[in-house]
Amino acid sequence: MSRIVYVNGEFLPEEEARVSVFDRGFLFADAVYEVSAVLRGRLVDNAAHMARLHRSLAELEIPVPTSDEEIVAVQQALIERNDLDEGVVYLQVTRGVADRDFVFPEGIQSGLVMFTQAEALIDKALAERGISVATTPDLRWKRRDIKTVALLAASMAKTAAKRAGADDAWFVEDGYVTEGSSNNAFIVTADGILVTRQLGNEILHGITRASILRLCQETAIPFQERRFTVAEAYAAREAFITSASTFALAVVRIDGHVIGGGVPGPVSRRLRTLYIEAALRDSAEH
Ligand code: PDD
Repeated sequence: MSRIVYVNGEFLPEEEARVSVFDRGFLFADAVYEVSAVLRGRLVDNAAHMARLHRSLAELEIPVPTSDEEIVAVQQALIERNDLDEGVVYLQVTRGVADRDFVFPEGIQSGLVMFTQAEALIDKALAERGISVATTPDLRWKRRDIKTVALLAASMAKTAAKRAGADDAWFVEDGYVTEGSSNNAFIVTADGILVTRQLGNEILHGITRASILRLCQETAIPFQERRFTVAEAYAAREAFITSASTFALAVVRIDGHVIGGGVPGPVSRRLRTLYIEAALRDSAEH
């Protein structure tokens, strides 16, 4: 089914949407993006995604393409026009179109592209079963806190993991897990402490990660923000990932080591339920 997408001020059928071959997003991956979940036709955690978009743009000195009100209005228009009940809205800001030059060009208009993807987020077999992950060296650049479209290392890692029979990859640097290919990584230790890597340039500052930690605070689930080793992960009682499109999703196998008896554990299940309940409650209020 053909979608209506948004490209630089226009709503178009996806077959008719075009960007320039001189777009710096295409030539240099000189672009940033956000993915916001949609439940019952409403955006989830979107204000936080907008705040992170601004941070990514500022770090790269990409001019803001238009006002937040306008961006959110386009997101909502796409949800309506595509009759999206559950799925995601993808948003990309590129530095713009200029003759190929490594130096950032001055005075050009940033590009803005958005589209929707319909997808079941709440009821999915993977959430019931839990996923398997394979660890792999983190080959990405050193500013992973900026959400750029330079996703080739992540794409390579996830493809290799899939070919090896796993569902996803966990990146490892200096013996410590950084994050998943497109999600943040968590474990629950044998003594019941939830652990996820501290914020820094080594990982993306996940919006879902922050919401999950807030839920831990509210429900008195003990947690630590610190790095953890692969060996610690193998010995964990539970493991899970978070992202806008997966929420909290259990990991039941890491490099073939069975975690928590091979089924989603109580902490990750509870956090998944709490996150979905909060998202549905928030969206009902808007
Ligand atoms: N990925 N870490 C990485 C490397 C990511 O690409 C993502 C998100 C996350 C989780 O961030 P958040 O909770 O804000 O979605 C962590 C998106 C979903 C993607 O690329 O599709």
